[in-house]
Amino acid sequence: MTDSAPHSHMPSPMEGKVVLITGGNSGIGKAAALSLSRMGADLVLLCRNREKAEAARSEIRSSSGRGAELIVADMLIQREVRRAASEFLSTSSRLDVLLNNAGSDFTSYEETEDGIERTMALNYFSQFLFTNLLLDELKKSAPSRIVNVSSVAHYGAKLDFASINGKGRMGTGGLGAYARSKLALNLFTFELARRLQGSGVTANCLHPGGVRTNIWSHAGAFAPIAMLGSLFMLSPEAGAKTSVYLASSPEVEGVTGMYFEKCKPKEPSAESRDGAEAAKLWEVSERMTGFIAPRTPP
Ligand SMILES: NC(=O)c1ccc[n+]([C@@H]2O[C@H](COP(=O)([O-])OP(=O)(O)OC[C@H]3O[C@@H](n4cnc5c(N)ncnc54)[C@H](OP(=O)(O)O)[C@@H]3O)[C@@H](O)[C@H]2O)c1
Repeated sequence: MTDSAPHSHMPSPMEGKVVLITGGNSGIGKAAALSLSRMGADLVLLCRNREKAEAARSEIRSSSGRGAELIVADMLIQREVRRAASEFLSTSSRLDVLLNNAGSDFTSYEETEDGIERTMALNYFSQFLFTNLLLDELKKSAPSRIVNVSSVAHYGAKLDFASINGKGRMGTGGLGAYARSKLALNLFTFELARRLQGSGVTANCLHPGGVRTNIWSHAGAFAPIAMLGSLFMLSPEAGAKTSVYLASSPEVEGVTGMYFEKCKPKEPSAESRDGAEAAKLWEVSERMTGFIAPRTPP
């Protein structure tokens, strides 16, 4: 073969990598799944609905020619999160990328069986628990990556430790709870990055942009405005770009503890960078999920 002859096979950086995506059946998560599958990744999709999960798997297969493993679990419920993590660990032998994408905003107040307001439970506490349960697998597979889908909504939010489980604290139409859940996710990401220094596992978070997805259909009283606004929003494919970049690009190999937008680092809110708040949140989260991280000797 001469130098000018085309390469028969250019391996993709994702060939043979196991990527676990939560909420991979819809919106940004599905668009990221399609893209990463076309790059050669071995996908595992965690979805709460078997039928929707199967539909996403068929779409992925026809787009990339590759299959995907499915885990069906409701991430609002901590025992389901634990079962999903065990199911993954019993069937997979490595984990290269954990894309914590599942999320929602609830406009009415209801508590989960764990006694936590739903937005806070789904967007933060379940991510804390799920990620920690998979941490050893990520360490074993290092270099590996944790990518958390946060939101620009975190700017301006403040945590209230007196009601961290969200009791009686929905805020305007649920947006207050949503903003706090994403601030908590940022604090968690940066604390994780600190704890994972030297392990080869990176942790970053991102804002995907304003993206036309199902999330806007449950915006309660804001739904009509949101649906109208969605005409000007990004497509799910465009909205998945930063998730895909953080999951796969060699450019961010080793980059950790950062917040990204449009595939570029951006300064998150000052509250997101408060190390004392992050440490306190970690302690509270351990208590509320029953997951106690192993203590490193002083
Ligand atoms: N769209 C935006 O403009 C925007 C902006 C900033 C941040 N985000 C974030 O982007 C992420 C993806 O949202 P999206 O916009 O793509 O919305 P979406 O289309 O509604 O996707 C959300 C995904 O999460 C899943 N999910 C919801 N509740 C779940 C549960 N209890 N257990 C397991 N999975 C659950 C959904 O499953 P079902 O299909 O079964 O509901 C769906 O697959 C979220 O974290 C969201 O906060 C979105």
